[in-house]
Amino acid sequence: MSLLSALITVSGLMLHLCFCVLSSQYCVPRKTVPYASDLKLFKEDGIFNYSTMLIRDDVGVVLLGAREAIYALDISNISDKKSAVYWPVTEEKQRECANKGKDPEVECRNYIRTLHSVNDTTIYVCGTYAFSPICDYMMLVNGQLTLKGRQGEGKGKCPFDPFQRYSSLMVGNDLYAATSINFLGSEPVILRSSNLALRTEFKRSWLSEPNFVYMDFVGESFESPDGDDDKIYLFFSENAIEYDFYSKVVVSRVARVCKGDMGGQRTLQKKWTSFLKAHLDCPFPKPSLPPVVQDVFLLKHKDWRKSVFYAVFTPQSSLSQISAVCAFSVSAIRDNFNQGKFKTPVAVETSHVKWMMYTGEVPVPRPGACINNAARNLGMNRSLDLPDKTLQFIRDRPLMDEAVSPETGVPLLLKKGALLTRIVVDSVLALNGERYNVMFIGTEDGFIQKAVNFDGEMFIIEEIQVYENPEAISILRLSSSKGQLFAGSEFGAVQMPVSNCSRYGSCVDCILSRDPYCAWDMSSAQCAPVYSLSSNTALQSLKDGNVSQCPASDPVAVVDLNLVPGNNIQLPCQLHSNLAHVHWRFSDQPLPSTDKYYIYSGGLLILNACESDIGLYACDSLEQINGRTFNRTMAAYHLQLFSDPEEVVSTTPGTTTVPKTLFLTVSTTRDPGWDGKEPPLPETQNDMSRVSLLEVAVGLLSLLCLSLLGIIFWIWSQEHCKCFKFTKRPRDVEKRKQSGDYFQSRTSEIKLPGPESGRLCSTNDYHTAVDFKGNGNHFSPMANLSSLDGLGYIHDESEI
Ligand SMILES: *[C@@H]1O[C@H](CO)[C@@H](O)[C@H](O)[C@H]1NC(C)=O
Ligand SMILES: *[C@@H]1O[C@H](CO)[C@@H](O)[C@H](O)[C@H]1NC(C)=O
Ligand SMILES: *[C@@H]1O[C@H](CO)[C@@H](O)[C@H](O)[C@H]1NC(C)=O
Ligand SMILES: *[C@@H]1O[C@H](CO)[C@@H](O)[C@H](O)[C@H]1NC(C)=O
Ligand SMILES: *[C@@H]1O[C@H](CO)[C@@H](O)[C@H](O)[C@H]1NC(C)=O
Ligand SMILES: *[C@@H]1O[C@H](CO)[C@@H](O)[C@H](O)[C@H]1NC(C)=O
Ligand SMILES: *[C@@H]1O[C@H](CO)[C@@H](O)[C@H](O)[C@H]1NC(C)=O
Repeated sequence: MSLLSALITVSGLMLHLCFCVLSSQYCVPRKTVPYASDLKLFKEDGIFNYSTMLIRDDVGVVLLGAREAIYALDISNISDKKSAVYWPVTEEKQRECANKGKDPEVECRNYIRTLHSVNDTTIYVCGTYAFSPICDYMMLVNGQLTLKGRQGEGKGKCPFDPFQRYSSLMVGNDLYAATSINFLGSEPVILRSSNLALRTEFKRSWLSEPNFVYMDFVGESFESPDGDDDKIYLFFSENAIEYDFYSKVVVSRVARVCKGDMGGQRTLQKKWTSFLKAHLDCPFPKPSLPPVVQDVFLLKHKDWRKSVFYAVFTPQSSLSQISAVCAFSVSAIRDNFNQGKFKTPVAVETSHVKWMMYTGEVPVPRPGACINNAARNLGMNRSLDLPDKTLQFIRDRPLMDEAVSPETGVPLLLKKGALLTRIVVDSVLALNGERYNVMFIGTEDGFIQKAVNFDGEMFIIEEIQVYENPEAISILRLSSSKGQLFAGSEFGAVQMPVSNCSRYGSCVDCILSRDPYCAWDMSSAQCAPVYSLSSNTALQSLKDGNVSQCPASDPVAVVDLNLVPGNNIQLPCQLHSNLAHVHWRFSDQPLPSTDKYYIYSGGLLILNACESDIGLYACDSLEQINGRTFNRTMAAYHLQLFSDPEEVVSTTPGTTTVPKTLFLTVSTTRDPGWDGKEPPLPETQNDMSRVSLLEVAVGLLSLLCLSLLGIIFWIWSQEHCKCFKFTKRPRDVEKRKQSGDYFQSRTSEIKLPGPESGRLCSTNDYHTAVDFKGNGNHFSPMANLSSLDGLGYIHDESEI
């Protein structure tokens, strides 16, 4: 035991050493909802990569594309398969593909990547088809799918490589696709397949090893005073041409083309004359390389000027575990393209080119502009009429000088931990008639973060685990009208409601959840969906979390417990929020965590109890909401002397005498408001002999530890602080499995009260427990170790 504990301590310290700085601006989800087995799931044996989806609200169907299969699923229960078509590659194709050096079982398969509605009954579908993409039409009639078998060329519509990111969009009968059009994946294009096909130039200044992420349509011609055209916006990342770095730097981009573009007459023949791109900036807190856009969602507004793109960004360096969400208004992007300055290549020295702001004269009509009234007044009705001067300018300078900045100047959300992957946003009408934009963001480890930004205050309402195993969410779709979310991963697709108000059992819980979907219904005394309620009989307080109008709740019942002198006593106390901090009182005096009273998130541990410990204990939950502290008592215990130690263990419900076990509890982050006192090492006080034993053991082990140090340092120097490899956060569920029954709840978290603690967006309180029972079987890699705040031994072999 001592050996292992020493090893764990040492390795923990080492991880601590190489953990990089934490700051206090990262959001922690208020509630963690563990995986529930009643979640609606769809998967089929032998089928993987459920990562293309088309929601058909109109016919109540979710179309799901996977590897060599397409399903029509019931939108109200995706476990209910209405029909399926299977579209495997032929053996011959597979062999051909394998002969070209691709993995036959993985790459030489048919991954469905494209699903677009053509009309009510017809769907356009494309697959990678063993590195030889093809497309087909599919009928959807009464939930039944049939492939037409009219296979057509998929090149330029669907990627060859199933691992390559890609985006496409159907506008009318035209398919816009951003993909690679060759086997090697080295020829990226943004292509329109229509009677008048157009594509991008093969120039590094247009696209440089891009990673296409998202495409959407904005109907800017609608009531346009200057006769402007509709646009297709595209988001991607690529190698920067504008930075002077020794190594490649990736930047995020937004680009657009005009729907009515027909290409140029001589210059830019069959190429976009309206391709413009700009750097998309989402400022990360620390000076860092530009973050990389991972997914985008267009929150549409009736007035397109008020539509907003929400984008998820992750760091360029794999060492960092920060993700962010930034929002960009369509108007701001449009202004940049319509009025901004251009960048131009300037030759410095012989071969070196620097991209700088273009200060010369800009030709008329403005390069990259759609055909609008101004152009029409010049007699130019089509892009074919544009003068060479305008076209040559845009051919050589598609990049705007200025970056597009987020609406609020700063991210709407900053999150540390498992990286964010996909985003959808719902606009929710709250009880007071205001609209709130609720973000649902998938993570790398199978969670969905449900977040809002209340006037600059980042708030994660809850995180919901939708996959039992940590799988990356590779697609996320929303049916706003049905109030359902759909997520896909390699191993299956799941469905969950946008809210489950019944999770909040009391008025205070309901209000403090600050969930725009939920309000407290006074008449039925339950937390219910807002759309079913009226503001006369319901309560909601989103910005303030003001519970003053909630009916007074019953005081907590005091539980009587027996105290056996010399024993350890556990008083459980479960907080309802990850943002709350626990505060214990003993006879109405604050009870600090000491080496006798050991406070952890699951309760209080009184070590080596004695007669002076009898009395009244109360556990308060302190939660900061919008700068105010909300104090509520969660549990109360009355300890009284019990003289017959023989009966204690079996007859005292609610209390647990800590068994013969050594606990080592490691809290991973330092509380921002923590006063710096070292956490307790309880046994040092009472049992000197055991302490020295441990010391001796540790002494004996120092050699071993040193070699471990060496190994860790070696790994560290090899991997450049790849501690983040360990950062899969062991979730509560898992931790509960590990930690046995001694502590009823989140054994692993230790929260110490402090003035700044409980901040809404405070340091990620990621804690983890190492609870090992003699044989060390339960040791799991420690996650996010930044410090060893809580280190407690309980070792009471002789105490019973
Ligand atoms: C969903 O469909 C599956 C398969 O048809 C069925 O077993 C399950 O009971 C349904 N769930 C609900 C909530 O209707
Ligand atoms: C839907 O589109 C397909 C393919 O273009 C066409 O063959 C079919 O007639 C159309 N159906 C309807 C109802 O418009
Ligand atoms: C598809 O899923 C399988 C099984 O998890 C995985 O091995 C493969 O890499 C996935 N393919 C893609 C293109 O993601
Ligand atoms: C442009 O359209 C206007 C009005 O439709 C027409 O009078 C004019 O001749 C057209 N110009 C060209 C160059 O086609
Ligand atoms: C909502 O939450 C309650 C309580 O946790 C649970 O019993 C119920 O199944 C959930 N409902 C849905 C639709 O997920
Ligand atoms: C909470 O609501 C009550 C009643 O509406 C109001 O009197 C009080 O000022 C509010 N408190 C805060 C902090 O907003
Ligand atoms: C919380 O409330 C309890 C009882 O109302 C009170 O005794 C305690 O001092 C309060 N705690 C703080 C930190 O205000």
